[in-house]
Amino acid sequence: MTEAALQFSDQDKLGRVASVDTSHVAVDVANSLLLTRIGIGQLIAIRGATEREYLIAMTERVTRSTRDELPPATDHGDDGVFLATVPTDVLQGVLIGTFRTIEGAKANTFKRGADSFPQIDRECFVIEGPNLQRFMGILGAGFAEDERLKLGAFVADRSADAIASGDKFFQRHAAILGSTGSGKSWAVALILERAAKLKFPNIIVFDMHGEYAPLADKSAGGFAERFRIAGPGDLEKPANDVLFLPYWLLNRDEMLSMILDRSDQNAPNQASRFTMHVRNLKGQTLDTESKVDVKKTFTVDSPIPYDLKSLLGLLASDNTTKGVGKTGPVKGEWEDKLTRFLARLEAKLDDRRYGFMFSPPSGSAKYDWLAQQVVRLLHSGGGSGIKIIDFSEVPSDVLPVVTGTLARLLYDVQFWMGSKKRTPVTLLCDEAHLYLPVRDDADAVQRQALGTFERIAKEGRKYGFSLLVVSQRPSDVSRTILSQCNNFLALRLTNETDQSVIKRLMPDSLAGLTSILPLLDTGEALLLGDAVLLPSRIKLDAPKIPPDSATRDFWSEWGTAQPDDAAISAAVECLRSQTRKN
Ligand SMILES: Nc1ncnc2c1ncn2[C@@H]1O[C@H](COP(=O)(O)OP(=O)(O)OP(=O)(O)O)[C@@H](O)[C@H]1O
Ligand SMILES: [Mg+2]
Repeated sequence: MTEAALQFSDQDKLGRVASVDTSHVAVDVANSLLLTRIGIGQLIAIRGATEREYLIAMTERVTRSTRDELPPATDHGDDGVFLATVPTDVLQGVLIGTFRTIEGAKANTFKRGADSFPQIDRECFVIEGPNLQRFMGILGAGFAEDERLKLGAFVADRSADAIASGDKFFQRHAAILGSTGSGKSWAVALILERAAKLKFPNIIVFDMHGEYAPLADKSAGGFAERFRIAGPGDLEKPANDVLFLPYWLLNRDEMLSMILDRSDQNAPNQASRFTMHVRNLKGQTLDTESKVDVKKTFTVDSPIPYDLKSLLGLLASDNTTKGVGKTGPVKGEWEDKLTRFLARLEAKLDDRRYGFMFSPPSGSAKYDWLAQQVVRLLHSGGGSGIKIIDFSEVPSDVLPVVTGTLARLLYDVQFWMGSKKRTPVTLLCDEAHLYLPVRDDADAVQRQALGTFERIAKEGRKYGFSLLVVSQRPSDVSRTILSQCNNFLALRLTNETDQSVIKRLMPDSLAGLTSILPLLDTGEALLLGDAVLLPSRIKLDAPKIPPDSATRDFWSEWGTAQPDDAAISAAVECLRSQTRKN
């Protein structure tokens, strides 16, 4: 027979259950010495209904108060009775699971949730040392070999691997949250590195600062493929890794959110003429391509190439055409109503920052172009399953359109794929607060992108499409999206508003654990959710190839490194030309 994983001696004895309130227990601590070693998140075993069962709790709070007590009668001195001050130590914990030495044919099992409530006066023990090692071993062993995602080690016991279920972690969206410099990007690099070991991983990373570039440097052991959204410097001769998002990929609402001014009294006219012409132009493309079947059912939102110059021509002619009256020309139905719409559209076309959308290379007007691009992004195998898309040259005001459109496109393709052929895809959204803001703060363009991501958050699971949201400002990230996340890697979080967001996302019983968040060390995290049997404080492993996000040593560098004047001038030119190439 296997040995029982939890074996307690008198030294481990902490005290007895004093009170129970649903999933919270208060323990009257008899062994004050033990208490000095206990931190938040420490595991406690409470003797269960039988000898073979322990309820497992996690400490949330420790309080010490003093009370005055009459000394025993024998202690009464000649001067009368003195009250003695006695400390009362109370430990509060939250019940998280049930451990059984034997359950049916199995030995040493742990499951989430307490099967029974602890009874008053039951003995409580601290789980530490060899007991903790054996217990942690059981946690990781609960997952099948090919499902395991090793993230680091438990802080409580560095010798035990912290293992999550890779399936559950990605299945229903996850979030990595923490203040700046807490170790989010390193955690991302670590997770990507682990995923890259699989045969056909499929993760698309939205990289806002180009910090994951080293992961794609094959000469230094990189494992990812890297793309760049075209910047103003890429329009003439785009390299092979440069991505364009031609205007015709945008659906009607995305396009209008950029060019329509809803406060204009002619806005409804402008929208309706735009819609009609775009639909007709797309129809014409289908005619030239002889796509008879598509023509029958396509809509204005279908991503079908059309010529923007023709659209401008049609709108301009609407805007200038006079009507025919009985006695000669009268004011046309649309005359002068589209002037401002046309001006806004033309301004976008002239803006080189929008080049990735309005000045795509000629090849992108081909009907087959889209399928080729999407295959590049959704392809996996042969070491190309991790794809990093660098958005660092995309101006911040258009960021939501680009991220939103790209995400929608990828999701829609996944949505329309036959369910038997579909393989899972995860979209990793770094710096999510930049383009997935809280709805009240969002402008028209951001709301459009938000709609896409919220839709993925709500229904993506069914189509094997999940989000991994990364942010340093959880309070600025859409609540709808965060509340759909089932797993959280919460790193150090100092801001109180941000902490309270995490607190609200936790089940009530675990909210107390979040008080540890501001105290976490760099690279330490609280891992919560269904991917782990226990919410645990872990120290994340360092990735083999760290992202390019090093925290600078200000003081030391000021002592050694002189700023390069020529580099400053060069940066000014880059700023002028809006490209890093010069
Ligand atoms: N697991 C780890 N082990 C050791 N050091 C780490 C770990 N994670 C992060 N660090 C250190 O912290 C620094 C900052 O980490 P990282 O770039 O991941 O922060 P971040 O949370 O992404 O910050 P930001 O929100 O500003 O992007 C790293 O350069 C590294 O020195
Ligand atoms: Mg980062």
